[in-house]
Amino acid sequence: MPSVESATIAIPNDLESYWIPFTPNRAFKAAPRLIARAKDMHYYTPAGRAVLDGTAGLWCTNAGHNRDPIVAAIRAQAAELDYAPAFQFSHPKAFELASRVAALAPGDLDHVFFCNSGSEAVDTALKLALAYHNIRGAGSRTRLIGRERGYHGVGFGGISVGGIVNNRKYFGALLNGVDHLPATYDRERQAFTKGEPDWGAHLADDLERIVALHDASTIAAVIVEPMAGSTGVLPPPKGYLERLRAICDRHGILLIFDEVITGFGRLGHAFAAERYGVTPDLITFAKGITSGTVPMGGVLARKGIYDAFMRGPEHVIELFHGYTYSAHPLACAAALAALDLYRAEDLFARAKKLEPIWADAAMGLKGLPNVLDIRTLGLTAGIDLASRPDAVGRRAYDAMVQAFHEQDLVIRVTGDTIALTPPLIVSEREIGEIFEKVARVIRAVA
Ligand SMILES: Cc1ncc(COP(=O)(O)O)c(C=O)c1O
Repeated sequence: MPSVESATIAIPNDLESYWIPFTPNRAFKAAPRLIARAKDMHYYTPAGRAVLDGTAGLWCTNAGHNRDPIVAAIRAQAAELDYAPAFQFSHPKAFELASRVAALAPGDLDHVFFCNSGSEAVDTALKLALAYHNIRGAGSRTRLIGRERGYHGVGFGGISVGGIVNNRKYFGALLNGVDHLPATYDRERQAFTKGEPDWGAHLADDLERIVALHDASTIAAVIVEPMAGSTGVLPPPKGYLERLRAICDRHGILLIFDEVITGFGRLGHAFAAERYGVTPDLITFAKGITSGTVPMGGVLARKGIYDAFMRGPEHVIELFHGYTYSAHPLACAAALAALDLYRAEDLFARAKKLEPIWADAAMGLKGLPNVLDIRTLGLTAGIDLASRPDAVGRRAYDAMVQAFHEQDLVIRVTGDTIALTPPLIVSEREIGEIFEKVARVIRAVA
């Protein structure tokens, strides 16, 4: 077996058994990147080397790592109630958390359905949309509209409405009756924009073309990420989301915002919907709800959607959907503590305040070798690098490896794009450190 860094705490001695997700397994196992513990802005390798977290884990540890109040809440909950049946029974923290999340949501999105991940949240939202139309007697509304380059997790629903080719092409025919809006990115017109680009609102009008093609009476919902994250940080063009909302309203189509990344402060607000003043019908969330500590996801639904289900005999289940671990007690405890911490430290406002500093620092990379574009929004940045000839993705992959081993920095890459999304507790000094390190890495992979 390949050697790993000398251990100060127990490390696995067989790297073979674990099939690592979304990772080139053989390359990883030849030169592993292992993280043994974490605190605040840093990871620590098994040998104790500190590594700065430039990505809040996978866009999730918004409050920073291993924060004491969240750790304490999880510990206390584990000692008090490990599990209560999620169907036909519940526990107090599930209700408390739903109320707290609803209070953060815009408009009348005041009911919360819990699950365990972003992928489940997306599946839940798509099923809710279909069932909602069905129970209202509009059962012909079965089509789901996603967007090219969209990422909505890895369930069959999510990859069907998603628009990332590699996530789709191996997995058969997917859901039928799905169509896609065009992606909102055009480098020629948008390169090196801080925040929302001026160009591109009209791309929402493509929904009218799709409606004309299929007829509104066949379309259940449109799902988009307010900011397409996983494809490499594509901020919405100014006015784009407003236009989508207007077209959906015109045709009775539900609008779903997938806020798995943008929820809980990433863009300086509880939800991106608030940043844009656009109220969708359903919002999916996950990740930041527990600051990444315990798996949890969920869907916020407008009052009218919930109410539409609350008919028929009162002893009959209104929605045949749910997960064993919906509103798991540990996740609820972690989420309540995370929400308390966000509020106590005003972390969403902090992200907003840091946004211009972050954007300036990111744009400082302009002019470095192979940098084709830089996009920023909230506390996120996408940096496109020119691909190596005949080896798409290799330059950014090398950058990630370099960053971890040589610069003590975790970055995320997708294709040849570097994505940065630090915990919201990042300091100005650490922002400087992140981009200095990224600059060194970009030079090293030139
Ligand atoms: C917008 C969006 N939706 C859904 C998901 C899937 O979340 P999970 O990996 O928790 O299933 C992600 C994950 O990155 C995401 O960014």
